[in-house]
This record gives sequence, structure tokens and C-alpha cells, in this order.
Amino acid sequence: MCGIVGVLGQHEVSPIILDALKRLEYRGYDSAGIATVNKGRLDRRRAVGKLIHLSDMLVHQPLPGRSGIGHTRWATHGGPSVANAHPHQVGRVAVVHNGIIENFRALREELAADGAVFTSQTDTETIVQLASQYLDQGMMPVQAARATLRRLDGAFALAFLFEGEEDMIICARRGSPLCIGHGEGEMYLGSDAIALAEMTNRITYLEEGDWAIVTRSGVQIFDADDRQTARPVTQINAAQARVDKSGHRHFMAKEMAEQPAVLQSAMGFYSGLDHGGVDLPAGLDFARADRLIMVACGTAYYACQVAKYWFEQFAGLPVELDIASEFRYREPVLGPQNMALFVSQSGETADTLAALRHVRPHVAQVVAVVNVPTSSIAREADLVLPIHAGPEIGVASTKAFTAQLQVLALLALRAGLERGRLGWEDYLARLGELRAAPGFVAQALDREDEIRRMTEMLAKARDVLFLGRGVMYPLALEGALKLKEISYIHAEAYAAGELKHGPIALIDKDLPVIVFAPHDALFEKTVSNMHEVMARQGRVLLISDAAGLAEAGEVPYSLQMPTVPDLIAPIVYAVPAQLIAYHTALHRGTDVDQPRNLAKSVTVE
Ligand code: F6R
Repeated sequence: MCGIVGVLGQHEVSPIILDALKRLEYRGYDSAGIATVNKGRLDRRRAVGKLIHLSDMLVHQPLPGRSGIGHTRWATHGGPSVANAHPHQVGRVAVVHNGIIENFRALREELAADGAVFTSQTDTETIVQLASQYLDQGMMPVQAARATLRRLDGAFALAFLFEGEEDMIICARRGSPLCIGHGEGEMYLGSDAIALAEMTNRITYLEEGDWAIVTRSGVQIFDADDRQTARPVTQINAAQARVDKSGHRHFMAKEMAEQPAVLQSAMGFYSGLDHGGVDLPAGLDFARADRLIMVACGTAYYACQVAKYWFEQFAGLPVELDIASEFRYREPVLGPQNMALFVSQSGETADTLAALRHVRPHVAQVVAVVNVPTSSIAREADLVLPIHAGPEIGVASTKAFTAQLQVLALLALRAGLERGRLGWEDYLARLGELRAAPGFVAQALDREDEIRRMTEMLAKARDVLFLGRGVMYPLALEGALKLKEISYIHAEAYAAGELKHGPIALIDKDLPVIVFAPHDALFEKTVSNMHEVMARQGRVLLISDAAGLAEAGEVPYSLQMPTVPDLIAPIVYAVPAQLIAYHTALHRGTDVDQPRNLAKSVTVE
């Protein structure tokens, strides 16, 4: 949440910072700002709303300077306003910050008692007020930054820029990611490597608790105990880190279209040499696990919900599943033979990370399924399985969901093999089904025109209901989440059998009800629930395969999916869930890639 950038350049840095902020805009877009040091003096520009407003402002009010910091904000403390936009500046110091300063109220009271005048409602301003106070007491910038950092509680990444210091930015990482980019006579910092991809492919990731003095000639890094330390420079694949829409209208459209290729290449990555099986990280021990605890948020949680069925079915492994923000607060019972599995696209979701830290001392193994292998969750897990989906920029998660499902399916099958529930032949047969998923996903994507036409009806609805049974229940939840977040239509999902226990009261002729029901063992039961809806004039859209549609009889709307093995149905049926949300949002003219109030990476609890 919030993106930060810093550049010590050989040329004007405002355009470079603006460009890097564009690549971080997925982290928040409530306001943006840049500060530079020019001829020794600090100056800044800030604008409310998306980056385009800051960019327009810079045309009329350029911001010269060869050193600068920038920020794109997702509001936490204080609404979106110029006063609350970063960089915050007091006297001779400016700061950009991502994260939360938990003790800001106490600090604010203390500083106000000493005469500090606050001009924003943010927690960030306490940082800059503190640093300014230390400078006024005669400390040098490095000392002042260090003294400030010692006073802060919470999870954050931040960068300080000082008046009179054209060759220095001080930055720190505690709980939120931060990396340093190495250029030719230039140095950079950013919330992620994608931000810096146009400038450099040589990146140093700061570790938890690190702080650093960055100058044009290099970086000095100190650990949490102030010991100077070396962190490796890694070469990133700049082509992979670069992000554009590749001719698509939206990132979301591009990312949906990429799914067959993503699934294919992830499968290729894990395909092992062991007689057609898959290579998973050494040390995974499902045989001894007596319970699997899965924790995640949002879409990643729904992927876990599907996987729960798989781990139970294929491996007989008891699964406990929870939303990360709830998990820690219910005193979960943990045991030394438990395996804990955390799923996160970004690998930075604060609640998921906190849950991981909570279980770590109590369980046998901590496994992470992430898209960003350098993320905090990946670093803190014992074993990491990347999903290899490539950068996901659209705020609504699409390709990460299907890739998470694929990796979780691989894990569940492996667990089945290790626990003796699946024989080798069976295991190989299931892997064969998974290998077929990219082709079926491509066929599902081919239904886009039909879906576009159907969504004209959905775009006028005030509420939409999604139904599913078994693994299709989490799919219904995912469909409802996608629709809510990008079209702003209220949507709910129910397990189809639960309908008559209350929600059926909502059904009338104005309520579209979307039913996910492949022709599987649960089909008949789901379809009879669907008939209960139709008997009350609910406007049903049935998503099924040829056999299912033939058996269901007349329905107001239907969408035919390819006939697929049960194992991969959730991966294939994710596509209509995504396309329905996307085209409904287009009809309604909402901002698909950057829906209101949201940010891609939720790094606050
Ligand atoms: C919905 C969506 C969110 C994320 C959730 C977890 O489209 O993207 O619900 O799934 O915020 O994020 P990660 O997977 O990064 O932990």
C-alpha cells in the first residue's frame, strides 16, 4: 500500500520519479507527490487523485533537481487531500512513507507539547516532525534519521531527503518492502524492483530492520543493531519486470488473456524429471503432517478454499482454513506436526504475513505460495513455491488466482502420493489433467463475446447472487468478489444448498442469479437449487458444460464451458467469473484497473 521511490540522478529526476511512480500506482492512487533538492533547497509538488494530476501539475510548475523522492498514496490516516499527500516536509527534511506508524498518536502529542504545528492528519507527519526537531537540536542528517527511526513503532518503509544534501537519501525498511537500484553514477530506491526496472536491473533487497545511506557512489547498509552489513546485488530480469498492456485496453484484460501461457509455463517450471511427475522443493513433508493450516486473504483465500477440497479428497489431510485477519485473533490451536501454508500474490499482505509470524514457532513447516519470490512472505517461509504468473498490475486478481490453483493442485496431488492415498499411476493421470488446463482455459476465454452480450443485463442490476456447490462454491465467492470490486454492483455468493435457509427471500424477477455447475457428481443438487430460484422468477444464468446444459432444460441465460475433468473445473470456471466482472464493469464505465478505494497490495492490517 503506497509506493515510494527515490532517485539520485545525473539529470533532472522529476520525470524519472514520475515514471517509476506510474509502475507503483497499483499500490494506491489517492494522491501523489514528489520532492527534490535543487541548489540546496527542498521543494515539492503534490496533487490529489491519480498520478495524471501530478503529471499535469508538473507541466505548469516544473520541479527541478537531480535528487528526489516520490510517493503514490493509498489513504490510511487522513483522507485523500493535498495536505495529507506525501512527501511531508517540515523545515529541512522531507519524507515519503509506506506503512503505519503505530505510536503516532503518542508521538504527535509529545511533539505538539514541544510546539510542533501539524498540518496533516497523517501518521507520517510525526516522522518528519521528529527528524526536523533532531536537526534543530544540532544533529547531522544521518544522526537525525537514525534517532527518528529508533522512536518509531510499526511496519513501514520510508525515505528521507534533506535540504542541503544533494547526494544523499536515507531509507529504512521495517515490515514493508524496499529495494535499492544500482545505476551508472546514479542510485535509486523503490518499493519494488518493477518500479526501478526502466533504470536498472541490479537490485539490492533490504532485509527486515535495515536502514541505508544512499549516495551516487553506492549504498551503505546497516542492520537493526546499526552494524554495517553487506546485502547482495541481484540481477533481475528487466524484461519480466517491465510492465505494459501489450495492446490490451486494460491490464486486467491482458492478465486474463495471459492465463493459458502462465499456466503452461508454471507447469513447465515444476515439471520434473522424475518419470513425468513434478519437482517440488526438497523438504516438503506431507507424510508426517497431521494437519494443514491454510491462511490467506481475498482471492488467495478463495484459492485455498478450493484447495481444501483437494487436500481432503486426494490426501486425506485434515485442513483448517482461515482468513488471515481473523486467524490470529481466535487463539488457533497449533501443533508440532502441523504444516502451515500461506498463499499470497504479492507476498506482502500484512495480515497474511502477521499470521505467518504467529504460527512460525509452533508448527513443523511453513510453506508459501506466492507470485513475488522476493517478497516478505517468501523470505520468511521455510519453503517457497512461486506461481510464476509474472507481474499482476490490475487490482482485481485474475491470472494469480488460476496460477495459485494450479500450484495448490500440484501440492495436493503430491500430498496424496506421499500419504499413500494416490498410487503413482493415479498421480500421473491427475497431473495429465492439470497439464490440459491451459488449453481448456483458452477455450473458456473464447466465450468472451458471448459473455460481453450477457453482461448488458447484469450491468443494470442492483444486486447479483452467485451460487455453487463443492469446489464451485469458492468460485461463486470469487465471482461475487470480482463483480463487487470492479463494477461496484453489490454481489453475494452462497453455497447453493444454503439458499433456502434465508437468502431465497431475496429472489425476485430483478435479481440475476449466476450458477456455476459443471456436470459433476453435485450437478443434480445444484440444478434443483437453481430450479427453486427459477420458480420464484429469479433471472438465472447457468454456467455449465454441454451435458449440464442439456440436462438442466430451459434456463433464461446459459453459457457453455468446455467439458473438463473435475480437478481442473475451478481453474477453467474462473475465466467466466473474471470475464463477467470485466464486461459488466466496462458497460458501467468504471475504472477496471484501478477501482475506487482499493490498492493492489494491502500492507496494512
Ligand atoms: C481481489 C484481490 C484481493 C487479494 C487480497 C490478497 O481481486 O486481488 O482480494 O487477493 O488482497 O492479496 P495477496 O494475494 O497479494 O495476499
